[in-house]
Amino acid sequence: MDASSDIALAALLLDWYDQHARDLPWRAPPGAPAPDPYWVWLSEVMLQQTTVAAVKDYFARFTARWPTVEVLASADDADVMAAWAGLGYYARARNLLACAREVAARGGGFPDTEAELRALPGLGAYTAAAVAAIAFGRRAVVVDANVERVVSRLFAIEEPLPGSRPAIRARADAITPDHRAGDFAQAMMDLGSTICTSRAPRCLLCPIAGPCAGRQTGDPARFPVKAAKQAKAVRQGRAFWIERDGREVWLVRRKGSGLLGGMRALPDDGWAARTDGSEQPPVTGAWVDAGKVVHAFTHFALELTLTIYRGENLSGLSDGEWWPLDRLDEAGLPTVFAKAARLALAHKEPA
Ligand code: ADE
Repeated sequence: MDASSDIALAALLLDWYDQHARDLPWRAPPGAPAPDPYWVWLSEVMLQQTTVAAVKDYFARFTARWPTVEVLASADDADVMAAWAGLGYYARARNLLACAREVAARGGGFPDTEAELRALPGLGAYTAAAVAAIAFGRRAVVVDANVERVVSRLFAIEEPLPGSRPAIRARADAITPDHRAGDFAQAMMDLGSTICTSRAPRCLLCPIAGPCAGRQTGDPARFPVKAAKQAKAVRQGRAFWIERDGREVWLVRRKGSGLLGGMRALPDDGWAARTDGSEQPPVTGAWVDAGKVVHAFTHFALELTLTIYRGENLSGLSDGEWWPLDRLDEAGLPTVFAKAARLALAHKEPA
């Protein structure tokens, strides 16, 4: 495609967006003034790796409880981590707070260029471009997984991901218009999630089916071409459920900034990541195996064996807290530990 057809393509897509934009809580309608940058930033951070359907309730709760970036900046870390529980990828919540505090320290205004946004904690290339375009109307090339799929098809890119990323970015850059870059980015996302879907693209409804090279191949769903998949590693671990008087469970806060760092959790053995003695049960006594939960993280699956202790020898416990069982859903346990807790509660035989 040449430059004039790139412009024509953007126009087709924007016309379609004017008619079909999804009505989402963090969005301004097509062509309307941009929404609050705080909303745009918060929604984009939440939407990384998570679906629109899953994000809506979290977005409503966060904006009701922390209506501005300054209010969020002054929140307790533990409250924000607990409110994030269930959304996954918890480094995002830690970065969210770090970013809110940096923006508050600057006076509460988000910077309005892609380069300055990129320098804030947790803002990668995608989020910086999305916020610059959507909140500030800057021309920025916004490439998420939806856009990668749409562009791979539109230009029938034969190279598999991730090697094709530079080519995808160059193509996406070429078709991004100077005006309405935010609407254009969101139009690409909407097209990717409602029409140019992974498995069965609905080309008959697509506003850019005409120029689409993928469609002309007769098998647009073949794009983006997939590289042969590596099997996911499986890690084994053990979590410890220590119950007192049938009313409370012992919870810890995970250290550091690694996986689930900063989140409340059941004590565990480090999932074979530790060999420093802390993989031993936190107390000695009659432990009972309650079975396994399986959880898929991005780079590995975890088979977590749950062992239960309901005995009297609790004196060795430190660095944690007793949490009432009838308020366990307020503890903000990440999903893998919430699954283990359900298993423990279903396993009521006396130890
Ligand atoms: N996914 C990520 N950001 C989005 C947005 N602004 N609109 C729709 N889907 C999205």
